[in-house]
Amino acid sequence: MLRRSTRVPGVESLATPIVRRAFLRRAGLLLAAAGAPPALFGQAGGARRGRVILDVDIGIDDAFAVLLAHFSPTIDLLGITTAFGNTTLENSTRNALYIKERFGVEAQVYRGAAEPLHHPRSEPPVFVHGEDGLGDVEGRIAPSIREADLSAPEFIARAILGDPGEVTVVTLGPATNLMLARLLEPAIVDHVRDVIVMGGAVGFAGERGNITTVAEANAWQDPHAMADLFRFPWPVTMVGLDVTYAADASMDAAFIEELRTRAGEAGAFLERINRQYRRFYRSSRGVDVTFQHDSIAVAYAIAPSLFEVERGKVKVLTDGVARGQTVFCPEGHHTFGDPEWAGLPTHRVCRGIDGPGFLDLYARALIGGGARGGGRRAE
Ligand code: BDR
Ligand code: CA
Repeated sequence: MLRRSTRVPGVESLATPIVRRAFLRRAGLLLAAAGAPPALFGQAGGARRGRVILDVDIGIDDAFAVLLAHFSPTIDLLGITTAFGNTTLENSTRNALYIKERFGVEAQVYRGAAEPLHHPRSEPPVFVHGEDGLGDVEGRIAPSIREADLSAPEFIARAILGDPGEVTVVTLGPATNLMLARLLEPAIVDHVRDVIVMGGAVGFAGERGNITTVAEANAWQDPHAMADLFRFPWPVTMVGLDVTYAADASMDAAFIEELRTRAGEAGAFLERINRQYRRFYRSSRGVDVTFQHDSIAVAYAIAPSLFEVERGKVKVLTDGVARGQTVFCPEGHHTFGDPEWAGLPTHRVCRGIDGPGFLDLYARALIGGGARGGGRRAE
């Protein structure tokens, strides 16, 4: 059952402090046990901002996430790489350029994969994200700028190797671009700072899939890429449906209205594109909120202390009816000598989230960004 706060998150008072403190007390032990990192990046004006590449299939919730990264003072957004998924590659790239131009995002856009590594491309889910991928509310989406010449995989590989140990890649769509980058330059595995993946679901909160009963959309879209990603010993954190469907991290009408009225043009834009997403969740899950999967993955990059994590191995099934299923084997569990598990490295999987803390973080970034002039005030 959804538990909603009657208070609308805003800049002055955003989280429910008691809930948050209780969560953090509970999570503290788990975080210590799992060895979760302290804040990934320095504070604005302090240490160097975290250097982040966002890999997107824009997508309504991807658009929310891009604006979160853009307006977050601790993130230095290096590039936006595009892929198929929620919409076609064409739309995804055009939508990224539209957001870049409209909101003054400095990072370049790099066009990437149009289809999965091995499976044929499937029809985009227009019933979720609309025909244009942004909820069909913007009229003609016709940015006057173009993407960079470099392809997305080339950019990812060059950025990581050009700044070893500093670049974090956050994948918000199928992981195809990142795995193509690894094929181009296998050494990125040793030099990436962190890989944060929105994808998968292992059942911590009873969630296992949103495409089939066992498959999350990004894992399903390109299961070979997702399976490969968990085979390499780079520092991966999986942010799956286990946390992104948390009721208290969802955005209700009051929260969206707060963004619309207080986060300038960006807030007004998000309210408009969210209408289609809201209809989708009303009809598919019977709730009048939207789940911001991709922003929650970006929030991990900004504030990992909002999350409970567990270490273990992840396998992704690539074919058949279980295509895209993510299976988790916690660290220390007996695997009876099964060679399939023995060969896999250990990664981090998120199992809990401080929902009010996430909403607090989101509202602060957007409302602060609007006030700094990152978006004109709404009419
Ligand atoms: C993920 O799939 C896409 O539809 C969303 O943008 C998100 O990245 C959720 O399963
Ligand atoms: Ca996405």
